[in-house]
Amino acid sequence: MLNNLSKSDVSFIEETWQKIKAKLEVTTVKSRNKIPYTTRDGVHDDQADLERGFIYLWTNGFWAGLNMLMYAETKEEKFLETAKSSEKHLDRIFKNVFRMDHDVGFLWHLSAGAIHRLTGSEESLHRALTAAMILASRYNPDGNFIRVWDNKGRDGWTIIDCMMNINLLYFATEKFQDNRFKSIAMRYADMAMRDHVREDGSVIHVVEHALDKPDTVVGYPQGQGYSPDSCWSRGQSWAVYGFVLSYIHTGKEEYLQTAIKTADYFIEQVKQYSYLPVVDFKAPKEPVYYDSTAGAICACGLIEIAKITKNSQYLTEAINILKALDKNFASYSLDEDALLLMGSESYRKGIHIPIIYGDFFFVEAILKLKGSSFLIW
Ligand code: GLY
Repeated sequence: MLNNLSKSDVSFIEETWQKIKAKLEVTTVKSRNKIPYTTRDGVHDDQADLERGFIYLWTNGFWAGLNMLMYAETKEEKFLETAKSSEKHLDRIFKNVFRMDHDVGFLWHLSAGAIHRLTGSEESLHRALTAAMILASRYNPDGNFIRVWDNKGRDGWTIIDCMMNINLLYFATEKFQDNRFKSIAMRYADMAMRDHVREDGSVIHVVEHALDKPDTVVGYPQGQGYSPDSCWSRGQSWAVYGFVLSYIHTGKEEYLQTAIKTADYFIEQVKQYSYLPVVDFKAPKEPVYYDSTAGAICACGLIEIAKITKNSQYLTEAINILKALDKNFASYSLDEDALLLMGSESYRKGIHIPIIYGDFFFVEAILKLKGSSFLIW
């Protein structure tokens, strides 16, 4: 367990962990050969399914990642076996280079990257490093940013979400002993500090850059939040966790200060909703749409900030969020394959559904509180 926790917090963490473990010991076997995104009537869907699935989905590394978090904590082979099954399915993506974008970070850092780090598998290392090379190749040296997507008209777009994908580049720098990967990652983080974070600490989801002039913003396209000048809560949480991770990997103080600034904004907002994040903090008050995933991601970032700064207030706020999620949105029933309900894809689509990364970050946060030293990022 982390230090400075009250008796009631320790019981919350231990009881939540026991419920998570009891459930995942069953679902890991039940959904071993699937790659879930959400559930339908309580049953995991399957993005690896050749007919009905979409193997290129950006979220397809989270089921492996969740199982690797469980493996790191329990050393139970069943979790590793499930992660390896996902890893094999994901090899299909390597056959189609046109379907690979910045999300290769989410896809392979959490699957093959984690498998390599916990088992030493060379094959997995090659997968993760191939993905890192693909990510690095997306750097636009004229505009000085990583191109995130390939869709026509989006060549100059950057999104705050990519702060999570660049962790794969820090990993590659260490493995190749080659600073170029880290340099590209830091250019992205520097750009995100400058162009995605507003003065009040709120975060802009999408920024459009000039393709051939460095560091030049040309617009703010609509992203997954209410509007370009609103504040999509998951984007805010990607910033909190993404910047603190960049600080951990580089030691650059400004990243930590930016993580704190964006965290303070998230906390101030989420308190107004009894610690349950709404999809957009700057949207009209009605209707109320929640996004449980934003809370789980932000909690992970807050715990890392608390560990680094020794400011226990961030730990308290992380636990407040996790308790609210546990009480209102978690399901430990075996009749429902998902753990965390009430995620939302965006302000206008996929509202109030379980999404696999909600489960991943909820478990990651509880394991951090439990004292796990495995940082999957
Ligand atoms: N990275 C896309 C999302 O957070 O929905």
